[in-house]
Amino acid sequence: MYPIHRNRRLRTNDSIRSLVRETILTTNDFMFPMFICKGTNTQIEIPSMPGIYRRSLDLTVKEVQELWKLGIKAVNLYVKVSDNLKDNTGKEAWNKDGLMQQAIRAIKAAVPEMIVMPDVALDPYSIYGHDGIVENGQIINDATVDALVRMSISHAEAGADFVAPSDMMDGRVFAIRKGLEENNFHNVGIMSYAAKYASSHYGPFRDALDSAPGFGDKKTYQMDFCNRTEAIKEALHDVEEGADIVMVKPGIAYLDIVREVRNAVHVPVAVYNVSGEYAMVKAAAEKGWIDHDKVMIEQLTSIKRAGADIISTYFAKEAAILLNK
Ligand code: PBG
Repeated sequence: MYPIHRNRRLRTNDSIRSLVRETILTTNDFMFPMFICKGTNTQIEIPSMPGIYRRSLDLTVKEVQELWKLGIKAVNLYVKVSDNLKDNTGKEAWNKDGLMQQAIRAIKAAVPEMIVMPDVALDPYSIYGHDGIVENGQIINDATVDALVRMSISHAEAGADFVAPSDMMDGRVFAIRKGLEENNFHNVGIMSYAAKYASSHYGPFRDALDSAPGFGDKKTYQMDFCNRTEAIKEALHDVEEGADIVMVKPGIAYLDIVREVRNAVHVPVAVYNVSGEYAMVKAAAEKGWIDHDKVMIEQLTSIKRAGADIISTYFAKEAAILLNK
């Protein structure tokens, strides 16, 4: 008999395709990254990220209420810090009345069930645009970790559900866990950016926060994109140090890493579908070269198929609206 296998039988029509479908994208998969700036009633679109805004607190809260209604259960917060508050210690990062702390309080007050995950890294606060304290042109690991612990405790005091260190310093997950425990924040979780690559896909994000490195690059702390086993090592270390969720970043160009990390750890894996990935889809769609919605859903589904339990994506709102239809 020829052919032995008629695989097309399971693709005959939409009904059978639905029955055998392996990966189903839902709104429960998404977290939405948000950029916050000072002021009131202010909303500035990021030129390289059409549809994404830097918003003042009042408008951020409104947006969070809308996201909640759409079924989005978590937000990642990033703040644009005024130049006069930037230095080389990052001390504004643990100011209890800082923009991030105010944002956490305001969001939790307005939508208590929304999971709030502030970003923990010094770059928005650094005069050098680096994720750590700089001495003689070097990013100093252990002093930076001390600052990140203070920052995390301050976020927990403001009401954060999780803290999300995105800095790639060594030992920070353990130090943050210890700091949280010692301050009785037993239930505040850690989502670590465990395998974060030194990627050229972060450009639009740095436009949004005005946080591009002032000198050099981030290759002494973020990972070399040529490496694979190093990502597994990073993820295993972070789990051992107490991470509740580990993240791989970026997404689309790193789906091999997502799958390997998924197979290596027993905690949820998050993937950050970053600003550059978003910008590429928007730009190609604007030119009429691709179908925006179809490519968006295909890319997000691919990330889930690769093993992501959670996807942090600027598409969250649009995709939720589409999936809710
Ligand atoms: C910085 C940080 C970056 C992103 C998230 N946190 C940029 C960087 O490392 O330079 C990028 C996210 C994106 O591009 O969407 N701690």
